This record gives sequence, C-alpha cells and structure tokens, in this order.
Amino acid sequence: MKKFLVTGGAGFIGSAVVRHLINDTDHRVLNIDKLTYAGNLASLSYVESNARYEFKQIDICDLVSLKLAFETYQPDYVMHLAAESHVDRSIDGPSEFIQTNIVGTYNMLEVAREYWLQLDEKRRGAFRFHHISTDEVYGDLEGTEDLFTEETPYSPSSPYSASKASSDHLVRAWQRTFGLPTIITNCSNNYGPYHFPEKLIPLVITNALEGKELPIYGNGMQIRDWLYVEDHARALVEVVTKGEIGETYNIGGHNEKANIDVVKTICSLLEKLQPNKPENVKSYADLIAYVKDRPGHDVRYAIDASKIQNDLGWTPQETFESGIEKTVKWYLERTDWVEGVKSGEYKNWVAKQYK
Ligand code: NAD
Ligand code: TYD
Repeated sequence: MKKFLVTGGAGFIGSAVVRHLINDTDHRVLNIDKLTYAGNLASLSYVESNARYEFKQIDICDLVSLKLAFETYQPDYVMHLAAESHVDRSIDGPSEFIQTNIVGTYNMLEVAREYWLQLDEKRRGAFRFHHISTDEVYGDLEGTEDLFTEETPYSPSSPYSASKASSDHLVRAWQRTFGLPTIITNCSNNYGPYHFPEKLIPLVITNALEGKELPIYGNGMQIRDWLYVEDHARALVEVVTKGEIGETYNIGGHNEKANIDVVKTICSLLEKLQPNKPENVKSYADLIAYVKDRPGHDVRYAIDASKIQNDLGWTPQETFESGIEKTVKWYLERTDWVEGVKSGEYKNWVAKQYK
C-alpha cells in the first residue's frame, strides 16, 4: 500500500486515475485540486467516502499550501495532472496556461525536490514524480504517415501545447540536474465518462441531445488518435509504479480518426440508443455545422505506443467502437452530472466561442 499525491484529481483524467486507484488497488490517495471550472468533485462521488481517499482544495501556484500538503501527507508517489487543458481557451487567453502549466509545474518540482531530499534512503530511492503530458508537444504530423515516438523533436503549435512542452523540459532538467526521480508520459486524445463538454466528443453528444448545432472546425478532416480514459488511467499507474526513472513513455490507442468521422459515429450511435429526438431534429447528423477553423489547428496526431507495450506490458482494453458506445451510454444515463457542469461558467464559454 503506497501513498499517491495526485494533482488535478477532480478533472477528467485525474478523476479516472483516482477512481482506479481507490476501486482497483489498496493504495491511498491525496487529491490536490484548485477546482477551476474544469474540476468537479461530483466526478468522485463514488470514492469520496472511502477512508483511503482525501481531498484538499489547493492551487499548485500556492507554494506554502503545497509544501504543507507534502509534509503532512508524506507521499511515496506524485502524479501531476493539474493543468489548463483546452486548446481553444489557450488561444482566447493564454495567461492561466502559463501560470498553472509552467509556474505550477515548477512549484511542484521544487516542493517535491525539497521533500524528497529529506526522506530516508529507502523512501528516497523509491520516490517517483510522474508528470502527465500530451502528444501535442510534438506538433503536427500533417501530410506524413509518421507516428510520434519518444524521440520526436518538440514542435508545439498552440499556447496550450507550448506550455505543456515547457513543463516537460522543466521536469527533464530537474531529473538531470538535481537527480529528482521523474518520469514523463505523453498521451493522445482521451475520451470517456466525466469529460467536460467543451471538448469535441462530449460537446457533440450533449449538443445533439439538446438539438443544438454540432460545430466542426474547418473541413473536419483533422485526425486525432483516441484513447479511452480508463485505459489511460491504468497505463499511468503502471508507469509510476514500474517505469524507469528519467524515461518518457508515449501512450496511445492506435485509433486515428478524422473529426468528421468521429461526429458521424456519435450521430449514428445516438440514432440507435436515443431514437426519441428533440422536436427540431429529424436526424442527428443534420445538426452538423461547419464553422470557422481554429487558428494554428494541428492537422494530425498519431502515437507509436510500442515502448510502453514492450517495456511495461500495457495495452488498451477498449477499441474505439466499444469505448465510444460506452461513452455515449454514460452521457445518456448521467444527465445529472451533465446538468451540473453545464451551468454557470460553461454557458459563458459556449456563448463566446461559438457566437
Ligand atoms: P481537465 O481540464 O479535465 O482537468 C484539469 C484539472 O486540474 C481540474 O480538476 C482543475 O481544477 C485542476 N487545476 C487546474 N489548474 C489548477 C491549479 N492551478 N492548481 C490545482 N489544480 C488545478 O484536464 P484533463 O483532460 O483531465 O487532463 C489532465 C492532464 O492530462 C493535463 O495535464 C493534460 O495536459 C494531460 N493530457 C490530457 C489529454 C486529454 O485528452 N484530455 C491527453 C493527454 C494529456
Ligand atoms: P479537442 O477535443 O478540443 O481536443 P484537442 O484540440 O486537444 O485535440 O478537439 C479535438 C478535435 O476536434 C480538434 O481537431 C478540434 C476539433 N473540434 C471541432 O471541430 N469542433 C469543436 O467544437 C471542438 C471543441 C473541437
């Protein structure tokens, strides 16, 4: 039984990691989260009363509170997921991305280093700092058949991916210069339950159910490599417990799909699972609307996940077909969760972004 300090555990992927650790292992978890618009404790309602789970509302930019949390909790492993994560918001206002993703990661590294140095030899040797990052740091694979490997040079396109690339560089520098035992993972696009409906897949599902437009940026031919979030959560726990210090592991599902095909798949699933449509809708696919493209839009991402498969034996359990059906069914069932997150701030974002 180990103590995990997870940052961003009230977000989409962080909450899947916390649920996995509490439901499927004997480990303990301290979840540190600022609870921005993207953080939602309702995503943790099934684990919050478990004695192995604790939550502290802390901003990773607040050094004093972070230090205190490390000192009192005494973690064995740190899994750092807290971040601003939405590309469109980073274009609208990059400032929070610089603060949380770069300065916040710097704080995490410094607090972890100070804490790690005073551990006894055995615990210091076993300590790990796992930084969770994205394949978007590698940039755009437009016009090639290439896959991102761990050796692909960084070439980020958006303020979001540039801020994540910066944080990855800081983590590598802290490992090389100070010997902090870090590991980095770079993962492709996730989808699944508890996904905030500003991102493509949950936006399309929830808009379709309300008879609203399904906005496709540009020509809809951009390609993403989709991974079911619970497969990602399992991979992350494998990496932090079994991965090699100083290594990077790419994580992906070999599910390259054009955006328009993802949206059409969701529409046909809804035809089957929710034939009872809003009054204005004859067919869900009629709601598809091509809108102005995202500035700097990356055309293609695709991951070579052979290293994590060969070294750690991890493989995804869901295909895109099984995962997307589970996801659509989840959104049909959990209308309480969707209503909760769609109130307030979400409405302002949608009005601004899709005006
Ligand atoms: P998310 O936006 O759903 O959740 C982020 C969480 O971090 C929220 O709970 C939020 O409240 C918290 N947070 C934000 N700023 C904070 C701060 N200053 N202090 C403490 N907590 C703060 O993000 P996600 O999709 O779950 O992504 C988690 C991590 O995985 C991110 O680092 C992201 O870059 C990375 N990632 C995401 C994807 C994806 O497809 N979503 C893919 C690869 C990697
Ligand atoms: P998104 O879910 O924001 O993830 P990311 O930008 O990190 O890949 O977007 C996935 C793809 O869908 C991306 O190519 C942008 C596109 N997209 C749309 O076409 N319409 C939308 O309303 C959104 C949010 C995204």
